[in-house]
Amino acid sequence: MARSDLLLSIVRAGASGDQAALRSSVEAMVADERGKNHNILADRLQRALNAVSVTPPTRSFANSQAGRDTVLETEARQQLENLVLPLPVTRQISQLVEEQHRAELLRAHGMQPRHRVLLSGPPGNGKTSVAEAVAEALAVQFFTVRYDALVGSYLGETNTRLARLFDYARTVPCVLFFDEFDSIGKERGDVHETGEIKRVVSFLLMQIDQLPSYVVTIAATNHAELLDRAVWRRFQLRLALPQPSREALAAFLERQFALWPEDPGMQPDTLAAKLGAISFAEALEFCQTVRRQHILSLASRSLKNILREQIDLWATRVGTEEVNAARSGQATSSSKRS
Ligand SMILES: Nc1ncnc2c1ncn2[C@@H]1O[C@H](COP(=O)(O)OP(=O)(O)OP(=O)(O)O)[C@@H](O)[C@H]1O
Ligand SMILES: [Mg+2]
Repeated sequence: MARSDLLLSIVRAGASGDQAALRSSVEAMVADERGKNHNILADRLQRALNAVSVTPPTRSFANSQAGRDTVLETEARQQLENLVLPLPVTRQISQLVEEQHRAELLRAHGMQPRHRVLLSGPPGNGKTSVAEAVAEALAVQFFTVRYDALVGSYLGETNTRLARLFDYARTVPCVLFFDEFDSIGKERGDVHETGEIKRVVSFLLMQIDQLPSYVVTIAATNHAELLDRAVWRRFQLRLALPQPSREALAAFLERQFALWPEDPGMQPDTLAAKLGAISFAEALEFCQTVRRQHILSLASRSLKNILREQIDLWATRVGTEEVNAARSGQATSSSKRS
């Protein structure tokens, strides 16, 4: 079959939920790609197909679509190899990916791959990126839960929408990403909360427990300490993504330097020391600013020169330490006042 016909038959089979047709068309495509020596693509197609075989399309397709508006569907572009992660995190994420890829073997032995992950760490150090990269590595859909679309004002409405969300997530192998999970997960222990919130949280946790293993649930929090133990227990992998050490920052900067068209005239480690304690996101912003200025200079200035100027400017910025110190100062003075 010609490639365009194959694509068409895949889309038709997917749209009508015809798994047998989907399987045979994708298998034909895998064979086609292998014939062209596109082995990486062929492998990825094969993996995506393996996930299809375990999807039980029992519930009505139309019903499960009702929960579609409770998630944001985005294409996962981030790749694990582009992230600088602590070694134990890299190892555990690779294990998870392998367990998911080889789920059929595990299932043949009566076991399921792990599929519930909690990521914690300060802002800008890769929680969202890791979740997205897992979806990319598994070649599955990346769904981010939209709390704004979940919370209803009537009693019981939130649980109804939650049920729809989980019904929808079950329809395909996916990564289901709960960002800022502490905003939900911590409520249970709060004495001021209403019975309704308690019911929502219990229902949410129960639903997470019941998800099939082809749905990889990833929750992210800046405040792991706020989550109660019942919430912690749910997650098979609990990974910390801390602010980078100087070595990690240098490794990140080295990769950025490699993208630059000119020698920056400075060792990554030296720049890491000058930038101090910052997140990866801030380091990225710094590097992009250097590049922007270099592009705008239309090669009239050297990158080396621009880098030095930006380092000086960097030293004058308002850092998170100052903001935190100012905040805690305010807190003390306001508590003195009251
Ligand atoms: N460990 C990392 N390695 C490489 N780049 C990173 C890393 N962490 C963050 N970045 C870069 O910083 C950007 C922002 O990171 P990300 O959104 O993943 O942080 P986050 O932990 O989810 O932050 P927040 O708590 O604010 O949601 C990413 O797009 C990525 O480019
Ligand atoms: Mg994030």
